[in-house]
Amino acid sequence: MRAEIDVEVREVGLRDGLQSVSSFFPTAEKIAWVRAETACGMPEIEVCSFVPPKLIPQFTDAAEVVAAALEIPSLSVSALAPNLKGALRGFETGVHKLNYVASVSESHNQSNVRRSIDESVEDFERIVEARDRHPQAAETRLGVGLSTAWGCSIEGAVDMDATLRLAGRFAEAGADELAICDTVGYANPTEVKALLERVVEEYGDAVDIAAHFHDTRGLGLANVYAALEAGVLHFDASLGGLGGCPYAPNATGNIVMDDLVFLLEGAGLRTGVDLDSLVAVRDIIARNLPGETLHGMYALAGAPKGFQSASRAA
Ligand code: COA
Ligand code: ZN
Repeated sequence: MRAEIDVEVREVGLRDGLQSVSSFFPTAEKIAWVRAETACGMPEIEVCSFVPPKLIPQFTDAAEVVAAALEIPSLSVSALAPNLKGALRGFETGVHKLNYVASVSESHNQSNVRRSIDESVEDFERIVEARDRHPQAAETRLGVGLSTAWGCSIEGAVDMDATLRLAGRFAEAGADELAICDTVGYANPTEVKALLERVVEEYGDAVDIAAHFHDTRGLGLANVYAALEAGVLHFDASLGGLGGCPYAPNATGNIVMDDLVFLLEGAGLRTGVDLDSLVAVRDIIARNLPGETLHGMYALAGAPKGFQSASRAA
């Protein structure tokens, strides 16, 4: 993590947000969004997904978007790749990080990536091997998102030990980062702290630990605070709370990036992101997705009188 920030926030709206939007977000507007948010100080953006274009046509322009994002000097560029084929497409672009996904719930894994958890782990092992052999990908880091880590809208409760075991398998297989994901907004802060303390304790020395929350039942930011207390320093969120997994029943938006930055900056934790310029970037989403509701309380209410963000105070 960069020296001048305490907590790293990562924009995922261009991937987790746009994957559930049926109208095509024009390529030039995706690039404008990436540029504008980077100009606010956003350190990392997941800019697209290397999925079959037939399955999610929103990402037919994935390579083009990555290429444009890689031209921005200060940005760490990531993208999702759900299988070896997607990873190979990603490696060709020279993207900085690829995020693979597997679910702790067997049913969600089948619904999302059409195979068993064991097959997902084996495919990841092939991706690590392919990365190590690929001339353009020596520097490409591999993240793994563990979906439905606190519960699944198909299977219900998910056992904490199952999440820990799967985290261990991916750490062993060569993941550089593990993102523990509450895909469908089932977690509460007590469970978040309990699980993430164990993940950080067991794997935190070897790999980066990130958290990915959805605000489906309003506990997203409370869960962030619990994760911070457990020692997690990397958080996904999407501007205006755009998002939701198309392969999980009743999944809704990610936690709102603007509100997350407000929480962290107010708590004295530097994100490096300028909040007021960040709020202005919502306009790019609004003008391209007039039918989508954008969420976020900070954008509505503005800063409290005399508010000092940690990054500006520094
Ligand atoms: N990029 C482009 N094309 C791909 C691809 C990729 N990453 N993966 C597979 N394909 C192509 C195959 O070449 C094949 O093409 P063909 O029909 O012309 O021969 C076709 O897609 C089907 O391939 P197959 O390997 O059988 O895939 P599948 O149908 O079993 O689907 C996944 C598996 C993983 C590709 C799919 O379930 C998926 O993309 N899931 C991710 C969903 C997602 O993004 N969820 C939200 C994020 S958490
Ligand atoms: Zn998500």
